Amino acid sequence: MDFIGANILSVSQFERADIERVFDVADAMTPYAKRDKVTRVLEGAILGNMFMEPSTRTRLSFGAAFNLLGGTVRETVGITASAMAKGESLYDTARVLSGYSDVICMRHPQEGSVAEFAAASRVPVVNGGDGANEHPTQALLDLYTIRKELAAHGRTLDDFRIAMIGDLKHGRTVHSLCKLLCLFGKVHITLVSPPELAMPEVIVEKLRAVGHEVTVTDQLESSIAHVDIVYSTRIQEERFASQDEANRYRGRFRLNRAIFTRYAEPNTVIMHPLPRDSRAEANELDIDLNEHPSLAIFRQTDNGLLVRMALFALLLGVENQVDKYAREVNWHSRRNPV
Ligand code: NCD
Repeated sequence: MDFIGANILSVSQFERADIERVFDVADAMTPYAKRDKVTRVLEGAILGNMFMEPSTRTRLSFGAAFNLLGGTVRETVGITASAMAKGESLYDTARVLSGYSDVICMRHPQEGSVAEFAAASRVPVVNGGDGANEHPTQALLDLYTIRKELAAHGRTLDDFRIAMIGDLKHGRTVHSLCKLLCLFGKVHITLVSPPELAMPEVIVEKLRAVGHEVTVTDQLESSIAHVDIVYSTRIQEERFASQDEANRYRGRFRLNRAIFTRYAEPNTVIMHPLPRDSRAEANELDIDLNEHPSLAIFRQTDNGLLVRMALFALLLGVENQVDKYAREVNWHSRRNPV
């Protein structure tokens, strides 16, 4: 695909070569993400961050990624703090904001809203999550992480086993990740959820249509026994009609050190898109795994910066000029090596 000026709305727009391109550029961003060097390649460019749903890492890492390339970030957070609370349409908002920005990242609770916004925008729009539909940049950073973690054990994306656990019905990260996995060789996917929160059938069919082996279950222990990646997710409480309904599923699957040690193979990697719900009644990924070498959740968030820097560089056509505008950092960082 031609990245320059493209909207990033769904992982379905990518071919395998596009993914590899993003990953190569992401690798090259490492010295900048680590602050060994700074670059001014996007000096003067403005990212418009428009987050109409709660977000910590997606919003901040989009912003930090743009800053690390030398650009500036302007943002509006929450529908109540924007003119949408006064009845302004997505169309008008897009026309206005795209006059102030060179690229826009947007999160919104309604499925399809980011595509609607992008149709009216005069600059590229990146989907930071549209309701339960998709979260394409999260899927890219998840896949980038899976690739790196597998490579550490001499494995590749064309032959591995993954268990996805939790609210697979409403989880946009697992929707996008499954669609992206359709571009790769031989993946065995175990989908672990209560039957009411199962992965949409249309996505399961897509996986099977490309020859992936898919197992659907509600058993946690047996599912984590023979996999390379465990991908845990949160019950998406904001997508339920009531908290009472969400409460029925909270805490249904709990991964902790005892269960992991007992059932999983030692090299199994633990991932989670975060936030993990650490309240006692949920606790899907226990803090007693925090120091476990298999826990990749913070390697995952660090990788998010690299992948989002890569996307911005590609969308604005500067991926080959990043080093040309680089210099050493002025400050002394206390940052520990990653
Ligand atoms: C996810 C999201 O917002 O879809 N988080 C993220 O962006 N890293 C997952 C979630 O909220 O549970």
